[in-house]
Amino acid sequence: MVGTAITRQCREAGVDVHYLTTRQEKIREEPGYRGFLWDPAQRTLDPRSFDGVHAVINLAGTSISQPWTPSNKRKIQQSRTDSLDTLFRHMKTNGKGQVEYLVSASAIGIYGHSFTDYHMESSTHTGEGFLAETVRQWEDAARAFEALEMPCGMLRLGLVLAGKGGALPQIARPVRFYAGAPLGSGRQWQSWIHLEDAAAMFLFAVHQQLEGVYNAVAPNPVTNAKLTRQVAEVLNKPIWLPRVPAAILKLLMGERAELVLGSQRVCADKIKMEGFTYTFANLRPALEDLL
Ligand SMILES: NC(=O)c1ccc[n+]([C@@H]2O[C@H](COP(=O)([O-])OP(=O)(O)OC[C@H]3O[C@@H](n4cnc5c(N)ncnc54)[C@H](OP(=O)(O)O)[C@@H]3O)[C@@H](O)[C@H]2O)c1
Repeated sequence: MVGTAITRQCREAGVDVHYLTTRQEKIREEPGYRGFLWDPAQRTLDPRSFDGVHAVINLAGTSISQPWTPSNKRKIQQSRTDSLDTLFRHMKTNGKGQVEYLVSASAIGIYGHSFTDYHMESSTHTGEGFLAETVRQWEDAARAFEALEMPCGMLRLGLVLAGKGGALPQIARPVRFYAGAPLGSGRQWQSWIHLEDAAAMFLFAVHQQLEGVYNAVAPNPVTNAKLTRQVAEVLNKPIWLPRVPAAILKLLMGERAELVLGSQRVCADKIKMEGFTYTFANLRPALEDLL
């Protein structure tokens, strides 16, 4: 999802894109746009994918929206660390070529659950659960590139809102059928970002060669209750159902309920100070654009 938006913005700006995919059927070759196969679990990639490449954007990782069985949890973590390790080993063995910079996706799931904390990148209140541990391992794998003396950035993505894909269509679907309701207390913070801003932030990181960790969220996080209410307003539907109790969500989703009940209020100041400007800083216009 994010990769497709980045690719579109690159092509609009006349920037050529090589992309790595694990799936043969996704390979295309057009002027300025070419796909290559890799298999991070086997540490293999098509070396031609690096020809003429100046910057690498890493987004790879299997979806976290699947049952968190022990085997899926392993896949969720390893698909992220294996991808970075495959890129690292390739550059260590074959040289960096023209590559000057790498930026990797990360996630705000690293921060601890809180209704009151406001997380800066320097926050020491990190989470305890599976998501936080996954992100820690992911960022450690990205930091390995420092050994190649290559500047490396990490963008901690919040909830990426898109018209197709990601969480928003799943939030909007029950609302469209008059069955929308806040989840749990509804007080949990949702630090969201519009897909186009998320994509633009990766390209901004490349242009500025941003090093270290940056929160990739809009400057105005909202609570789950406000997000649900604003989705309903934009769709012109009522919210009449009571909140879905946290206990029911935990029963239905198990440990994965952390995805909808977790609260992270995340600060966007650091990237703003670098000069990044948002097209969608507030939720309402973002939802009007997407829905
Ligand atoms: N969307 C969000 O709200 C959000 C929030 C925080 C963080 N993030 C992170 O940002 C990244 C991009 O998010 P997204 O929403 O664009 O995700 P996405 O649409 O699921 O894209 C991730 C891509 O990773 C590749 N992939 C899947 N399994 C893989 C494996 N085992 N090994 C290597 N690659 C694999 C797939 O590409 P191929 O099929 O082409 O191989 C897939 O298209 C993800 O790592 C995600 O965890 C997203």
